[in-house]
Amino acid sequence: MFEINISPEWYDAIHKRHSVRQYTGAPTDEQLTRLGVLCKKLSWQGINIRMFRGPGLKSVIKGTNVYAVIVAKNGTAPELEGYMGEAFVLEATAMGLGTCWLGAGFNPDIVNKNVSLQNDEQVHCVIAIGQVTPSNANPKRRTLEQVCKKNAEELSKLGVWQQAAVEAARLAPSAINLQPWTIEVDASSLSVLERRVLINKYAGIDRGICMLHAAVGAASKCRNAVWKKTDGGFTMKA
Ligand SMILES: Cc1cc2nc3c(=O)[nH]c(=O)nc-3n(C[C@H](O)[C@H](O)[C@H](O)COP(=O)(O)O)c2cc1C
Repeated sequence: MFEINISPEWYDAIHKRHSVRQYTGAPTDEQLTRLGVLCKKLSWQGINIRMFRGPGLKSVIKGTNVYAVIVAKNGTAPELEGYMGEAFVLEATAMGLGTCWLGAGFNPDIVNKNVSLQNDEQVHCVIAIGQVTPSNANPKRRTLEQVCKKNAEELSKLGVWQQAAVEAARLAPSAINLQPWTIEVDASSLSVLERRVLINKYAGIDRGICMLHAAVGAASKCRNAVWKKTDGGFTMKA
């Protein structure tokens, strides 16, 4: 269900990515063509990712009018929206572009019309994309111990892929930075599980983003993630 080709460049992108709300211009046609190829690869199992140029973003985003829309068929797991959307974000980041996930920062009337939204489809999020002045990411996140009840030393005893996967997962972006996940990790598996938060609207999408980060972390140590639905979340064997 979550099988995609993970680019080795995405691991570095995880450490460079941060939400950008002020851009210095739109992506070039060449960049959009390259991202368009990826959109096609990510569009399956009820997800369709399409890019648009023009109105649709709210004024929180300045300096670009280009965005990707994640269209989901009703009944599609929100984790899949997050997983595929974050693959798009990491590819754009690896190309030197800035991005920002937007749940509230877009105009649904315009976006739904742009995508000719069908009765059995929904748009929960769009992703702004544009040129940026490079700057360092400085993400405020819960500590390793808070996320997985293990410190770096305890994790390293489990294995290098677990350490890379948890550290990458910890850096995942989430709506209002709520980080609505806990991670359980042992010698053979890693689970991204639900954590109760005040606002639950984007929690499934957030966990999908976190899962992609975990898979990219594992891939950086040559492990291929295979996900299965389990009680309260998803479990990866790698
Ligand atoms: C599903 C989702 C929805 C988001 N919606 C918005 C939004 O509507 N407006 C906004 O300014 N940022 C939005 N964000 C960005 C988050 O605020 C941001 O990812 C979080 O604060 C962590 O900061 P970072 O991305 O710079 O690491 C959203 C992020 C996610 C994952």
